[in-house]
Amino acid sequence: MQILSGKDLSNIIQAQVKVEVAEWVANGGKQPHLAVILVGSDGASETYVGHKVRMCERLGIKSSLVKHSDEISEEDLLAEVERLNNDDDIDGFIVQLPLPKHINVDKVIETIDHRKDVDGFHSINVGRMAQNVPCFLPATPYGIMQILEHYQIDTQGKECVVLGRSNIVGRPVSILMSNNGNPGNATVTVCHSRTKDLKKHTLNADILIVALGIPEFVKADMVKEGVVIIDVGTTRVEDASRKRGYRLSGDVKYDEVAPKCSAITPVPGGVGPMTVISLIKNTVRAVKGEVYPK
Ligand code: GUN
Repeated sequence: MQILSGKDLSNIIQAQVKVEVAEWVANGGKQPHLAVILVGSDGASETYVGHKVRMCERLGIKSSLVKHSDEISEEDLLAEVERLNNDDDIDGFIVQLPLPKHINVDKVIETIDHRKDVDGFHSINVGRMAQNVPCFLPATPYGIMQILEHYQIDTQGKECVVLGRSNIVGRPVSILMSNNGNPGNATVTVCHSRTKDLKKHTLNADILIVALGIPEFVKADMVKEGVVIIDVGTTRVEDASRKRGYRLSGDVKYDEVAPKCSAITPVPGGVGPMTVISLIKNTVRAVKGEVYPK
């Protein structure tokens, strides 16, 4: 059983990106600048945003954290998005999700200039991804594709089952896995809360991508011998034995499932670290005009 370490791969890519940014700047290129809008004080969101900002610092990328209370009106948030759209120093920015209930997420995402949408959430980027033409790929699916590529997991013609159909992970990764590419060219099934006989599908999977946010949902009797599993879950579960009071749980019951796998991503240290470096890669592509020429 092979452990697909996103942490190790992220370290390799970080070293590459650091050199790439230094060379770009040394040759007169503009220092990349990522902005992050954070609304409210959700603990997990604050942690993720902290990882993003710190990675920018390490790799020579400028970052700006724009914080707002969860009482901000939709109108004011949209105005903030417009301000960043029009700020020539900002190459890319994201609005950390989730947002408070009184704010229409779709409206916020559609207001982001797609050329600065380094989260790849805007409908133009999603549409371009579906058409398999250059675009910003959403960070988590992009990270998953890089894991599959780096560890040379053969996806061509394989049965790939995706659990979850969120806009952030399940839906986009299902598109990428079915696109003509390598990784890609898989036969993809998307399962969700209304799927009948889920086990019938999961038992058929050569590659199982789990993005439900339900701790330890996938059990050993749900997968076949030799499956490759990508576990996207990172739910905080109470754990009094830990100093911080919680641990991160994946969507797969790792101890009983891993022995059946030919390869599996751990939690933590799997998909999570890849998400952050993928966002940074998008930011570098943005400043260089690699996706949308300047
Ligand atoms: N919340 C969870 N994942 C993400 C992500 O990739 N981008 C943003 N903006 N919010 C998130």
